[in-house]
Amino acid sequence: MTLMHLRLRSAALVPLLLLLAAPVTAQRRAPTPAGAGARMNAFVDSLLARMTVQEKLGQLTQLPGPMRPEDVPLIKAGRLGSYLNVNGAAAMREVQRVAVEQSRLKVPLLFGHDVIHGYRTVFPVPLAEASSWDPALVEATARMAAEEATAAGIDWTFAPMVDIARDPRWGRIVEGSGEDPYLGSVLAAARVRGFQGRDLADSTAMMATVKHFGAYGGAEGGRDYNTVDVSERTLRETYLPPYRAGVAAGAGSVMASFNEIAGVPSHANRWLLTDVLRGEWHFDGMVVSDWAGIAEMVAHGRAATEAEAGRLALDAGVDMDMSDSVYLAKMTAGYGVSGPSRAALDEAVRRVLRAKYRLGLFRDPYRGTSPAREQAATLTPAHLALARESARRSMVLLKNGGGVLPLRRDLASLAVIGALADDSASMIGPWGGMGQAADVVTMLQGIRRAVSPQTHVVYAPGAAVLGSDTSGFAAAEQAARGADAVVLVVGESAGMSGEASSRAELGLPGVQQQLADRILATGKPVVVLLANGRPLAIPELAATAPAILETWFLGVQAGTAVADVLFGDVAPGGKLPVTFPRTVGQVPLYYNHKSTGRPADASNHYTSKYLDVDWTPLFPFGHGLSYTTFAYGPLRLSATSMGVSDTLVARVDVSNSGSRAGDEVVQLYIQDEDASITRPVKELRGFSRIALAPGQTRTVSFRLTADDLSFWGPAMKRIVEPGFFRVYAGTSSEQVQEARFELKAAPRH
Ligand code: NOJ
Repeated sequence: MTLMHLRLRSAALVPLLLLLAAPVTAQRRAPTPAGAGARMNAFVDSLLARMTVQEKLGQLTQLPGPMRPEDVPLIKAGRLGSYLNVNGAAAMREVQRVAVEQSRLKVPLLFGHDVIHGYRTVFPVPLAEASSWDPALVEATARMAAEEATAAGIDWTFAPMVDIARDPRWGRIVEGSGEDPYLGSVLAAARVRGFQGRDLADSTAMMATVKHFGAYGGAEGGRDYNTVDVSERTLRETYLPPYRAGVAAGAGSVMASFNEIAGVPSHANRWLLTDVLRGEWHFDGMVVSDWAGIAEMVAHGRAATEAEAGRLALDAGVDMDMSDSVYLAKMTAGYGVSGPSRAALDEAVRRVLRAKYRLGLFRDPYRGTSPAREQAATLTPAHLALARESARRSMVLLKNGGGVLPLRRDLASLAVIGALADDSASMIGPWGGMGQAADVVTMLQGIRRAVSPQTHVVYAPGAAVLGSDTSGFAAAEQAARGADAVVLVVGESAGMSGEASSRAELGLPGVQQQLADRILATGKPVVVLLANGRPLAIPELAATAPAILETWFLGVQAGTAVADVLFGDVAPGGKLPVTFPRTVGQVPLYYNHKSTGRPADASNHYTSKYLDVDWTPLFPFGHGLSYTTFAYGPLRLSATSMGVSDTLVARVDVSNSGSRAGDEVVQLYIQDEDASITRPVKELRGFSRIALAPGQTRTVSFRLTADDLSFWGPAMKRIVEPGFFRVYAGTSSEQVQEARFELKAAPRH
């Protein structure tokens, strides 16, 4: 229960006891039954009581795999708690055997890996999956990734990455769910549920890690690892909700972030890692450092030595030390483990042991894995079918002038142009797990398989993604001129987003824009497929290309799914989870901004805008078209006013007004018209992806409670304030129906 306050216009705060769930959709994992919890704690305490300080520090130590000969004595001495990147059931069993057969206390090791969007079966990158606005799908792909990875010996994934990102220069935007805290929260919870399944003790459950805590996506200038300086209010309103949702969904671990916030590196941020995470959110799992994040506090200038950094991290609440062995090597007995840190050390070890216990490692350190199970669980037909389905649902149709799409599959000739069209490695995207390029169906392959036997497909790369070589332009232009239609694939290669892959420019890299100009100048019907890990600033392309389909990086079934959409077997139904700017100079540009005292107004010079570029986005948050059209009826509210304990229902009729079946993502936003703290012009509070047959109408309902109207008030407590609210429902953050209601103060008790 959280205390929420109702601020009356004139009066003091009146506390109301309401269950505050931010996000409302988060579900807490079923609590461990009291008896089972007591048994676990007794087991953990008795083990802890038998440990030396060295063995305790060992439990907190994680090394990168594969196991090296010099690791073996460490494992035997009980001085290692975990590995990352030991892959495959056979390798895992070999390493685990040393721990459970040859160490004094036989404590099993925990095996972690970055299973971000699939293990061997690679699904679309998270930003793409977020474009599906389909939490059930996101949960399903996380579940399958867990089934595959656990069969290969992985107990623990360093995902979901739930960092809100408002700056597309930041390469890691590709790993998250975009710019919105509500969508990000819903998807964070879905991924945690998917990875962990119903019970961590199940052999297919993989412990999730909510990362990177916190506000890692707020890096200044979008430069990875850079400083973050946000107010506590922005932290709580914008950045923290998805972490909290992941924790509320039962995530077993949280990873500290590389960045500092307002002068405090996260690995030393006791307020964040302990007061907020454990005190406010009641997290009882384990906190892991990011790779070498503890030692890096020396470079941050927060600690003089690694030993001091280790003490700071332990006291702040970092339990497991990933990769740099600061705890093990620099915090020897007697240093940093007396006084308060002694208790911190024991508590950290308890958390690691509890995670191992919950995962069932003390019962079966191998969690039922074997090479045979691994083989049977890898790249199965069901996994590939889900990879194809998730890829289909992740694409966003940005533009379809003149109904160029879908293409007929029986065209006499089709030109496919662009290096990315046949780039299997890029389809995997960053953080591809154990994905292999050989498993990928490229776009070219998918198209070739899907066209009619008489269609002649000509492929010309035209130009590489990077570089200035235009020698392939002529052949590409010739291919385009000789074809009935052209599919032009442009964008970024996989290595251009992800960790340490920030860009200062957001246009098409290399000479791809010039290539596009040449191809578009042929006057042929050209369909542009974008493959990229971030929003791109492509105003020229958006103005001149007849059709643009955003495909991101779609994983092993990229080509099959792209062909399904190109030739109209399915209509695209994704929506942008992030704003596309016109130019990098507009960044940060996001839909849920504040109004300012001088909102942009073209007729008034002295308003908030630019002299040299429009203030509006190229494509707004929530935008995405279909092959059909949808008509919205008026937005109807169940009442014109509500009290703080009431529920208001917003209903809107959505009809398929075109001639093809299609999916629409109906979005609901609110705006608090005036409040003691200024509120964003719109805030997403609900969405629903629905399928509609031609002519079909469905009524979509959203329930709003005081919870949805609450915010962090002047005293940094969640409050709701009486007054007028606007509600918007529509097809994007910009195209909406509008209604208004009043929230009335509840009678005083
Ligand atoms: C560093 C990255 O920041 C983090 O996301 C990842 O989990 C670790 N490396 C382990 O690979």
